[in-house]
Amino acid sequence: MKRSMLNMLALSACTVAFNAHAQKFDGLAATPQMGWNSWNTFACDINEKLIRDTADAMVKNGLKDAGYEYVNIDDCWHGKRDEKGVIQADPERFPSGMKALADYVHGKGLKIGIYSDAGATTCGGHPGSRGHEYQDAQTYAAWGIDYIKYDWCDTKGLNPVGAYTTMRDAIRAAGRPMLFSMCEWGDSKPWEWAKDVGHSWRTTGDIYLCFDCEFSEASYSRWGVLQILDKQAGLRVHSGPGHWNDMDMLEVGRGLTEDEDRSHFAAWAMLASPLILGNDVRKMSDATKRILTNKEVIAINQDKLGIQAWRFMQAGRLEYWAKPLDKGEWAVMILNRSEQAMPVSYQWTNHRVNDDMSKRVLDTTKTVYTWTDAWTGKTGDTSKKLESKLAPHGAIVLRLKARS
Ligand code: GAL
Repeated sequence: MKRSMLNMLALSACTVAFNAHAQKFDGLAATPQMGWNSWNTFACDINEKLIRDTADAMVKNGLKDAGYEYVNIDDCWHGKRDEKGVIQADPERFPSGMKALADYVHGKGLKIGIYSDAGATTCGGHPGSRGHEYQDAQTYAAWGIDYIKYDWCDTKGLNPVGAYTTMRDAIRAAGRPMLFSMCEWGDSKPWEWAKDVGHSWRTTGDIYLCFDCEFSEASYSRWGVLQILDKQAGLRVHSGPGHWNDMDMLEVGRGLTEDEDRSHFAAWAMLASPLILGNDVRKMSDATKRILTNKEVIAINQDKLGIQAWRFMQAGRLEYWAKPLDKGEWAVMILNRSEQAMPVSYQWTNHRVNDDMSKRVLDTTKTVYTWTDAWTGKTGDTSKKLESKLAPHGAIVLRLKARS
């Protein structure tokens, strides 16, 4: 055998052996991850005090108890790389360093996330991880980081499968379980290839603070709540425990109407999206707090089956969504897309709701289900017509349980 052939064989054996170990960390995000991220409210205006105060607030105001676990620092935390290429935190904004900050957040019983980018520079123009993937994953692991959001700016000519797989392998090699949150905006349909690469992937470009609009930037658009919801069509087959369709960070508590906030939160919960808060949790209105800590809605999101809801019916501007839950239970959301209040009159027994994907049927023609309204606690059952009125952009969310 020629030497070059031998070399090739040795190389491929080596690749196989290496890849056999290079898996994403299992057991992270068995249900959609919950936490907070600095970007929507603070963009680049971040520092260590903000992160510490946010962690403190999450403990005090009940967000931690409600299940929000990660405190995630987005873009712009970076300083320079040192002479060995090791990334440093910005010494002015994070003078105590990331290790100390991670220790502080861990001390509160929370976890900490960081942000990088597959290109040479991040979207904010800071050092990205291209060519430094293994080094950066090691640095983050040494700091005690638990979560990496990995963006897609400055990646002209890069293959997304290769770039994200490289970072996954780097995280595995660094040896610390870090949730890998992929943020390539859905451009290369990551739901088709990333199940074994990331724990979640963004399905769209960035969310915009509106319920129903498209906001055009020079070369891309940002999307309102309804626009992001519509872009999930057909994606539910790709989502499940450990690998979620990420609909982007929440805009709840940032200026939408209270009904819109409720609908936005309910939709993200129904579609089993990660719930990453984007508001300033140090000062929240009571209404925002009630929405974000609603146990029933969170339980629907965190249901252990991890089945994403689908739209089973549309009647004018009203939409009907269903989500199969553990133990034969169901969640149903009725959403009013219009800017007018709309009456709802739904005869359960006229509809047999069949989920081809999970092979589950919500059969109110044969079984009577009792329902509980997740927002109001009101109860009823499916033997009677559901009569209600939805506010403009409002949504009703019901949890159904077969009557025994
Ligand atoms: C975008 C990303 C946002 C935010 C921002 C930071 O690409 O989608 O969520 O991380 O970059 O520059």
